[in-house]
Amino acid sequence: MTLKPHIILHFKLITMANDLMEKIVSLCKRRGFVFPGSEIYGGLANSWDFGPLGVEMKNNIKQRWWKKFVQERPDMLGLDAALIMNPKVWEASGHLNEFTDPLVECKRCHARFRTDQLETDSKGKYICLECEGKEFTLPRNFNLMFKTFMGPAEEAANAVYLRPETAQGIFADFKNILDSSRKKIPFGIGQIGKAFRNEITPGNFIFRMREFEQMEIEYFIPEPKNDNEWLEYFQMWRHEIIGWIKDCGIDFDKEIFELDVPDGERAHYSKKTIDFQYKFPFGEKELYGLAYRGNYDLSRHQKHSGQDLFAVDEDGNKFIPHVIEPSLGVERTVLAALCSAYREEMAPDAEGGEDKRIVLKFPAWLAPIKVAILPLSKKEELSNLSRRVYDDLKKHFVCEYDETQSIGKRYRRQDEIGTPFCVTVDFESLNDMAATVRERDSMKQERIKMEDIRDYLEEKLEN
Ligand code: GAP
Repeated sequence: MTLKPHIILHFKLITMANDLMEKIVSLCKRRGFVFPGSEIYGGLANSWDFGPLGVEMKNNIKQRWWKKFVQERPDMLGLDAALIMNPKVWEASGHLNEFTDPLVECKRCHARFRTDQLETDSKGKYICLECEGKEFTLPRNFNLMFKTFMGPAEEAANAVYLRPETAQGIFADFKNILDSSRKKIPFGIGQIGKAFRNEITPGNFIFRMREFEQMEIEYFIPEPKNDNEWLEYFQMWRHEIIGWIKDCGIDFDKEIFELDVPDGERAHYSKKTIDFQYKFPFGEKELYGLAYRGNYDLSRHQKHSGQDLFAVDEDGNKFIPHVIEPSLGVERTVLAALCSAYREEMAPDAEGGEDKRIVLKFPAWLAPIKVAILPLSKKEELSNLSRRVYDDLKKHFVCEYDETQSIGKRYRRQDEIGTPFCVTVDFESLNDMAATVRERDSMKQERIKMEDIRDYLEEKLEN
């Protein structure tokens, strides 16, 4: 049987996509971005550890988000709420009843699945992925929150939950912040922190994890008199998210699809949601979400807590603020930025020929290492001078010192982790007190006086 050309192309595209994912996963492990969690014990389903380069990337993302959306905006404040909250919070938010996945259980091995994960046999019967059994219970709802116990006794009265989103901490503290800050509506509260979900189908590397970090904003607005009023704030945050996505080095027009989530598919509280879908190698999937939550959350918390969560307008009228929520995942930002930055290209080698280089073309702010200091040889006089350069630069930029292997190989190593600049100290440096600064993308080299290198890099890296 010969396959039709469009089917061959389809398979080629899938293979290329899988290849890219495999290459990224392998680079992440090899170079210390992301490791499988608890690997020496055989790992733990879908837990991932961020290595030395991964943690720098995550920190860059969180710091930039905080600066841009909390510190630089007069209409924003920050918060770091407790991760384990009074369980009544989850009753009020609806998570205890609504944050569920319908699962069937294999009657033979008791493994649980969502039916959309399962294949069927010729008679349409589901087949268990664990034991190939074909008898299942009817679907039952399983809550995605991780449950634990507070205090020594493991009894129902002491049950608490790991938060499945950072948002509810913001609602629970809304009144305290309003009372202590003199802010007037509209204003927002931003929070970065861990969230936990007992996802039934985690996977695709760090795309869907059980433990991840969110950067969330609840932006409180006056009670809208018509649709245009909330839509204006919604659009403001839509533009902010678009700007942020571009800032991360993602080509918004080519790599993002904005899905206006239709009625019936939105979370129960939301009146409008846009999913910013990124074209990941394994398919187009949600990168970030932007939701108009109405006044659902504060109304529910007012009712369940019995506390007054009203704000007061200029005329002295009480109202429950409505909310626009931009919600961004840290790990999904890392993954999308890695996919967008990854390139394989031919580049000149040391022998005057060409070879393949892998390069992560990150925006400079996102790169885990900003500057590599590379003495041309390990000779003591060069090492001494290079160490002095390193000691000065490391106070200002995240730097790496590397003196092993040929200079060509060291450039390739830095390209592969996305380091924007390499500073090479050679024997000429001992005379002219200058070094060669190489830029990652253009591979152009410039001779810069040592005393000027810091200012030179500062200017280039500032973006
Ligand atoms: N407070 C609203 C909320 O949590 P969500 O769409 O469930 O909404 C927001 O999550 C963002 O958090 C997602 O767009 C994604 O970036 C990230 N996220 C959600 N679940 C995740 C998971 N299991 N693993 C990694 N990131 C996740």
